Amino acid sequence: MDKEELLKNQVALVTGASSGIGTGIAKAMGAAGATVIVNYASSEESANTVVEEVSDAGGKARAIRADVSDEAEVTEMFRKAVEQFGTIDVLVNNSGVQKDSEFVNMTLKQWQTVIGINLTGAFLCAREAAREFIRRGVRPERSKAAGKIIFVSSVHEVIPWAGHVNYAASKGGVMLLMKSIAQELAPHRIRVNSIGPGAIKTRINRAAWETPEAEAELLRLIPYNRAGEPDDIGKVAAWLASDESDYITGTTIFADGGMLLYPGFATGG
Ligand code: BGC
Repeated sequence: MDKEELLKNQVALVTGASSGIGTGIAKAMGAAGATVIVNYASSEESANTVVEEVSDAGGKARAIRADVSDEAEVTEMFRKAVEQFGTIDVLVNNSGVQKDSEFVNMTLKQWQTVIGINLTGAFLCAREAAREFIRRGVRPERSKAAGKIIFVSSVHEVIPWAGHVNYAASKGGVMLLMKSIAQELAPHRIRVNSIGPGAIKTRINRAAWETPEAEAELLRLIPYNRAGEPDDIGKVAAWLASDESDYITGTTIFADGGMLLYPGFATGG
């Protein structure tokens, strides 16, 4: 099947799509033929730029604002999306933040903000999407599945991360949220998976790659010897949303250049 046909006639909602990995995913979904809903929390201008980029590449897109950690805003976003496009076929739970701190100095606010967006936000959006998928059921002319939910998790759903325990806890939570939902929704023909990115060059980890020294340090953790780009994740997301991966559910696909391969052991141990 041609790449631009993979998600033909399907509607994909990507949260946190106004920057970073979310933008890469929105563009890849558009390139695969989906109509893309570009969710953003605050940067309307950036979201509109992404909408233009998808349109310029021949796709269809629309921006909708919602803070994913707010139940009423999430419900309203899904209502608007279904009103405008009839239904949603794919949800990509991408919104995520880091509020880093040494553990003993971590504030409750830092903890709650990260859990609120990365974990509760993912729950709220997944619940709305699942309700819509079950309401609509399978329409074979769109997809073999009634719907697809993709979480953008992290290598830190398995790698512990000192100085970032709120973030690592949120991603560990996402892992079992994803698997448990996958188990519960499979009989409805809803597929639920995660992508686990490693170090992808975006704003969130700028400090880790912006100077040659920092990048050299970072590359010691990546056997494949390059940091990732948002497009590396976009391509996986488009495939995971398509019927090409119809038999895959309940799995995390890591896209990390080998970060999970315990690179320290290549020469040690
Ligand atoms: C984090 C990045 C980090 C990467 C690898 C991601 O989930 O958001 O800041 O560079 O994991 O450690």
